[in-house]
Amino acid sequence: MSILVTGGAGFIGSNFVLDWLRERDEPVINLDKLTYAGNPENLKSLDGDTRHVFVQGDICDRGLIDRLLAEHKPRAIVHFAAESHVDRSIHGPGEFLRTNIDGTFTLLEAARAYWNGLAGDAKTGFRFHHVSTDEVYGSLKPSDPPFTETNPYEPNSPYSASKAASDHLVRAWHHTYGLPVTTSNCSNNYGPYHFPEKLIPLMIANALAGKSLPIYGDGQQVRDWLYVTDHCSAIRAVLDKGKVGEVYNVGGWNEKPNIEIVNTLIKLLNEFSPRADGKSYSEQIAYVTDRPGHDRRYAIDARKIERELGWRPAETFETGIRKTVQWYLSNQDWVRNVQSGAYREWLDKNYADRSVPA
Ligand code: NAD
Ligand code: TYD
Repeated sequence: MSILVTGGAGFIGSNFVLDWLRERDEPVINLDKLTYAGNPENLKSLDGDTRHVFVQGDICDRGLIDRLLAEHKPRAIVHFAAESHVDRSIHGPGEFLRTNIDGTFTLLEAARAYWNGLAGDAKTGFRFHHVSTDEVYGSLKPSDPPFTETNPYEPNSPYSASKAASDHLVRAWHHTYGLPVTTSNCSNNYGPYHFPEKLIPLMIANALAGKSLPIYGDGQQVRDWLYVTDHCSAIRAVLDKGKVGEVYNVGGWNEKPNIEIVNTLIKLLNEFSPRADGKSYSEQIAYVTDRPGHDRRYAIDARKIERELGWRPAETFETGIRKTVQWYLSNQDWVRNVQSGAYREWLDKNYADRSVPA
């Protein structure tokens, strides 16, 4: 028995693979294109572990996926691979449509052909798990209840629109062809191996480098935050006990405005790694031009997965964020290695016209 994971060299995918092989003895075939966001360093601790088979390749490559399915005969596919950064989707939506929509379509078609060729328990037990986001539901007003699985889809960014499209394809492949799928829609993750283009790792990296901490707009946008290993355990619970065709919302019961997240990071950095001049990292805060179409609030009602599958997050925000800051402080080489020329070009592109002070 084995599972095929796509995007297992990215932030959540690599945490999932590491966690899976700590928790279980079942091999993982890890298919990842290694875009700017994919990093084999995340999986370095698995060097020499024969339970991990890494394959560099594209989920749009049907021939490759057919070969991997035929060779390894996985009992499940866990689909993380995606373009995942909203700001990048605003600057260049094409790659988001290609990977998130065409790629998911290609994977579904390959999975369907493979599943049709299975028989008996292998066929009934097979699962295609699709990893998605709460952003497909759109933006909430302050008084709205959190998103449930029956909220209408109202995606507002090219990223969330492409993820919404992929969710619809997954749903349709179940209803039309009977493919045994499950989907999870999760809130914002944070933790180790988070690429420093996203809010939390960017703020830590910029603070330590003496750069400004760019807050979009008024900083009052609200996100629900979940420690990444809790997302991994939720996906394992869905794979183990989830009902075919069902959607599960996953969240941390932890809504916070962005400015509060940044202030928490500042407090922890002041404690663990104070500035040489004795001043607070808050001196580096800079309010900058807002993201176009910026969703105001996301919040997740995670009662269904708790009620039906017995899943709840193990970390509180207080424990998870302390671990995260400590991880970044102890893994400065990892951060330096991902801050390549391409990463610096991205920072220039995204922040140059937001009037961030030098
Ligand atoms: P990430 O950007 O860190 O990693 C994506 C991975 O996919 C990378 O390793 C990349 O190389 C790989 N990839 C990209 N295009 C590919 C292609 N065409 N073929 C094969 N591999 C490809 O993303 P992440 O934050 O780890 O997110 C993983 C999944 O979880 C995504 O589907 C995302 O939509 C979803 N999600 C993310 C969050 C979050 O807070 N980060 C929250 C909810 C859901
Ligand atoms: P991000 O980590 O990009 O995740 P998402 O857009 O998928 O929620 O951003 C989280 C929030 O932080 C979002 O409201 C945008 C905001 N943000 C900033 O204020 N400044 C930044 O430099 C970045 C990258 C994000």
